Amino acid sequence: MVYLDSAATTLQKPPAVARAMAQAVNHLASPGRGGHRPAMEAAEIAFDCRQAAAELFHLSDPENVIFTLNATHALNLAIKSLVKPGDTVVTSGYEHNAVTRPLAALGCQIKVARGALFEPGELLTAFDRLVTPEVSCVVCTHVSNVFGYILPIKEIAGLCRARKVPLILDASQSAGAVPIRMDELGCAFVGMPGHKGLYGPQGTGLLLVEAGRMTEPLLEGGTGSLSARQDMPDFLPDRLEAGTHNMPGIAGLLEGIRYVQAQGEGKILRHEQALTALAARELGRLPGVTAYSARRPETQSGVLSFVMEGIDCEEVGEWLGERDIAVRAGLHCAPYAHETAGTLETGTVRISFSGFNTPAEVMKLVSVVAQMKR
Ligand code: ALA
Repeated sequence: MVYLDSAATTLQKPPAVARAMAQAVNHLASPGRGGHRPAMEAAEIAFDCRQAAAELFHLSDPENVIFTLNATHALNLAIKSLVKPGDTVVTSGYEHNAVTRPLAALGCQIKVARGALFEPGELLTAFDRLVTPEVSCVVCTHVSNVFGYILPIKEIAGLCRARKVPLILDASQSAGAVPIRMDELGCAFVGMPGHKGLYGPQGTGLLLVEAGRMTEPLLEGGTGSLSARQDMPDFLPDRLEAGTHNMPGIAGLLEGIRYVQAQGEGKILRHEQALTALAARELGRLPGVTAYSARRPETQSGVLSFVMEGIDCEEVGEWLGERDIAVRAGLHCAPYAHETAGTLETGTVRISFSGFNTPAEVMKLVSVVAQMKR
């Protein structure tokens, strides 16, 4: 199979991930819940994973790395810590439903900063206009899950810092590929999946919390700490991690993060960008195919959307699936991004790469798309 759906989840993982998970199933108990060896070993793996994430994302305290189920869980924790019902919140015009649905459920007034696709200048002008003192926070994606657009997050974060408005960064499509520095960005929270660019298993995610930031749990329960009290501990990570941990997932995620660290900063992104540029060029040569690619290739990650004139995108996705090429078609849970790009009515066909894809796989996709009858 040619797997081109890594924006949903990476399918090929470094072999050490599955090995660590199998070892965890049989040998790790519950961290912080016992003084015996399997519990102590689990605590060590959990700490190593927090530490590896803190190093990768330049966060000073590993205890501020919170284990979650996925990015949606992490973003819900962040949003519900910062936003009260009815607050005014600013987002970009590229947000996923993992951001916009929690905001809608809180009855927020959402002000959307939009600029034309791949146009950072227009986007920054919109943020500059909308981020005012009455805004309770900004929630912004780092990379569009539909178009691979890498938003100018340093500038957006700088603007938020200057106006003292906290920023929640959705790093679902960037973590592991596009560098993220908590120490420089000064975000209140960064939420991310463990199972995409960090190459961990599904059922893992991370929330990075700025030092000293107040948080609100989504779940109350046992933490193995302060057990005589009926309120949740006021320290991290315990405050946000009720119940037994997903130790096989955490052990796998640790190996995924180690793999990313071993590649060195920027290498995976450069590989994915080269594949995106190749796909954009070759698909763009086919009659009736429009590929949405950035004028400046450094502003696009390993995600590319395209449409085919006269053919429904779902039909293209099915046709490719029947020929063993895995892509995603439709709105990709991100109607805002399609509103921004003008593709809300049609949706798009999306291909998305991991560090394991090859140019030969791109050419296979292109040759199969070329065979599709219009
Ligand atoms: N948000 C993931 C995607 O874009 C699931 O496919």
